[in-house]
Amino acid sequence: MQRVSQLLTTVFCGGATALATAALLLTSACGPGDHSGQDPPKREGPDAKARAKEQAAEAKAKAAAEAKAKAESWEWTLPTGLSSPPAIPDDNKMTAAKVKLGHQLFMDKRLSGDGSRSCYSCHQNELGNADGRKTALGAGDKPLTRNTPTIWNVGYHAELYWDGRAKGLEAQMLGAWKGGNMGVGADNLEAKAAEIGGLPPYKSQFKEIFGLDGADPVKPEHVAKAISAYERSLLCADSPYDTGKLEGPSQRGWEIFRDRGCRTCHDGDNFTDGKFHNVGIAVGSEKEPGDIGRGKVTGAAEDNYKFRTPTLRNVSKTAPYFHDGSVATLKEAVRYMASGGDRKVKGIDSGLQDLKLTDAQIDDLVAFLEALSCAGSLEVIGDQKVAGIPE
Ligand code: HEC
Ligand code: HEC
Repeated sequence: MQRVSQLLTTVFCGGATALATAALLLTSACGPGDHSGQDPPKREGPDAKARAKEQAAEAKAKAAAEAKAKAESWEWTLPTGLSSPPAIPDDNKMTAAKVKLGHQLFMDKRLSGDGSRSCYSCHQNELGNADGRKTALGAGDKPLTRNTPTIWNVGYHAELYWDGRAKGLEAQMLGAWKGGNMGVGADNLEAKAAEIGGLPPYKSQFKEIFGLDGADPVKPEHVAKAISAYERSLLCADSPYDTGKLEGPSQRGWEIFRDRGCRTCHDGDNFTDGKFHNVGIAVGSEKEPGDIGRGKVTGAAEDNYKFRTPTLRNVSKTAPYFHDGSVATLKEAVRYMASGGDRKVKGIDSGLQDLKLTDAQIDDLVAFLEALSCAGSLEVIGDQKVAGIPE
């Protein structure tokens, strides 16, 4: 026992009671700050004192410079299964400090018009970074028309929203902020940004990160940039699929998925081609067109009822399904896709075919999709409860 504890003191640089030789070793190996409250030998003159003070100041400055360099840089740690980081706009470089600020803002209810919800309120961990509702409930309890998509891997989408109307996360964030989701209103956005930017925890962060002058107010674009940088850091992979742990049902499901046409659209690391397809969900009539999706963005009739292929990462956690949340379970959603969709719909994508699968094969596909779940979660800050939104 004795031997072991002596060994430990030597290894862990803590040993006030270690043998004299060990103590010698320790002081040389562990440097300042590790000598257990023992005063240094009193042989020093004023010069040595001044030198020590200087050294301490130098060390402090060096540590500060290192911390600053770290805050101003960014290192990607890509989970297994994602081959490259998301594209980063030239005017919004990633930095650790910016991502940290964006994280705080994403979780802050004060960003919404009525202080009732944060971005996280609808994009929650337990619900696969969506909200578990059929369609979302916006600020002022205003019902919205679409299902909340996951924001895992959202940095990989070039065009955001189900209809791709926002080009890039920065534009998307401004849309969500002034629109129904956060309910601030276009006219109030500047004032809201200045208000948020003036709050004590944020003021100095914005100033340093965006190089603002004392008098410069924080603009909506600064908030959008910080939140977007945070969103780009939200990577989902390293799932059983990525790490070669498919087995039995999930392996059989993967083979159906791969060989029977699902990958035509759900392609690449993020299981989406980034394109828009009409798969026959909630297609209206001439009289009551309903949500025409991509058609509204491009104005072209052939784009009506097209929606962006969603990612399937973490899909087993993001029920209900489709842009209108009309399908409650993953099995039902898979059955719909594998049976070729609603064949009565004019203009339904020819990539969708009735694969004539058995019920057991549908279960296999579901097992495969469950194997696309990632383990990560957003670190929650503050109370995120909102009436009307499940947790
Ligand atoms: C009230 C619920 C709600 C709140 C609050 C909310 N969102 Fe969303 N979010 C949605 C819905 C619904 C959509 C899809 C809307 C559509 O496609 O038209 C969406 C879409 C998105 C997308 C696009 C995802 C994709 O796959 O294209 C991103 C990114 C996003 N939200 C981020 C944010 C940010 C950032 C905030 C805070 C500023 C926020 N959301 C606040 C419900 C919400
Ligand atoms: C022609 C392109 C295409 C093909 C082929 C395709 N999908 Fe899809 N998938 C889509 C689009 C687009 C949506 C979203 C439709 C909507 O919400 O209106 C979707 C939605 C889904 C969803 C719901 C996801 C969510 O978050 O709501 C699942 C699950 C799904 N597909 C699985 C499959 C499977 C399994 C196959 C193969 C049997 C398949 N898909 C084949 C384009 C396709």
